Amino acid sequence: MGKKLLVLGASGNTGQHLVKQALERDHHVTALVRDPAKIEIKHDKLSVEKCDVFNKEEMRPHLENAEVVLSCLGFPLQRKEPVPYYLQVAQVLSETMHEFGKRRVVFMHSWYTHPESRARCRGFFLKNFFLPYVIGQSLNGMRLSEEYLDSTDHLDYTCIQPAHLLDGPVTDKKFILNETDSCIADAAQEINRADVARYMLDVIDDESSYRKIRAIGVGVDVTDKAILTDDNHSYVPNCPIRISRADVARYMLDVIDDEGSYRKIRAMGIEGDDSYMAVIMEQIDEFKKVIFRN
Ligand SMILES: NC(=O)c1ccc[n+]([C@@H]2O[C@H](COP(=O)([O-])OP(=O)(O)OC[C@H]3O[C@@H](n4cnc5c(N)ncnc54)[C@H](OP(=O)(O)O)[C@@H]3O)[C@@H](O)[C@H]2O)c1
Repeated sequence: MGKKLLVLGASGNTGQHLVKQALERDHHVTALVRDPAKIEIKHDKLSVEKCDVFNKEEMRPHLENAEVVLSCLGFPLQRKEPVPYYLQVAQVLSETMHEFGKRRVVFMHSWYTHPESRARCRGFFLKNFFLPYVIGQSLNGMRLSEEYLDSTDHLDYTCIQPAHLLDGPVTDKKFILNETDSCIADAAQEINRADVARYMLDVIDDESSYRKIRAIGVGVDVTDKAILTDDNHSYVPNCPIRISRADVARYMLDVIDDEGSYRKIRAMGIEGDDSYMAVIMEQIDEFKKVIFRN
């Protein structure tokens, strides 16, 4: 049966997926936004309200009516101090919802909020450049909010921590979870925003997720892309520099009966554009934004 959901950050890239999927699941949705014109969806179970999420007076009537609050808020990157807004919103929700005896909130955070988890990061560039110098203070801000939520008994919160976000469609992929590491060693390092929204809605009634900080991910796909090989160099010229473990496993099984591969030392890669380089260029752009804003 549909619930009354209050969505913060509803105009954002994940928030919009969340609103759409919530309506498809027959929930009543109140979307809180700074600019109502950003929400294009029209639906008789959707109400779009302009509201300052940091202002308790403005939030009070919405929180009184809501059964579940979901936050997909995201804030500009900062270089020097933890981004304070994740904590501030958590405090507004905790204190105001407590007045009405309301408890259920699902927050969207990120892999690597726990500082120790950052040493487990797999990508060299991500670990040594992007995490410490670009998104580190956003992660620290999320972490402050997680510590605060843990310290008060007011909310049945779930902090959902996804990896790098992509704009692909909602899938039916099985989720992989981890409640201790703030990242997931055997999951893909990317996840579609639409799938994060799907998971946030999946857990609204799931008591096992209450008061949990939960990294989520999806498995790495085996593709049917052509494998490119080179037996003369230790690399494959003109080939993307990254390949999934799943495709390496596929190729190892492919060659077990292939006599052409006997007594060969074979570099392998996979056809396609180099999305890894695209991610790096995107991250450099984010870095420039932080440097020039502070
Ligand atoms: N990028 C990644 O790879 C990645 C990975 C993991 C987690 N995350 C985190 O996931 C969250 C959601 O990501 P996303 O890409 O969906 O975010 P997004 O598209 O940037 O959306 C952010 C939302 O927050 C709202 N917002 C920003 N500042 C606000 C303020 N002062 N008051 C009220 N609302 C405000 C925005 O409203 P307006 O539309 O009015 O601006 C928008 O609705 C973020 O916290 C992000 O850091 C990102």
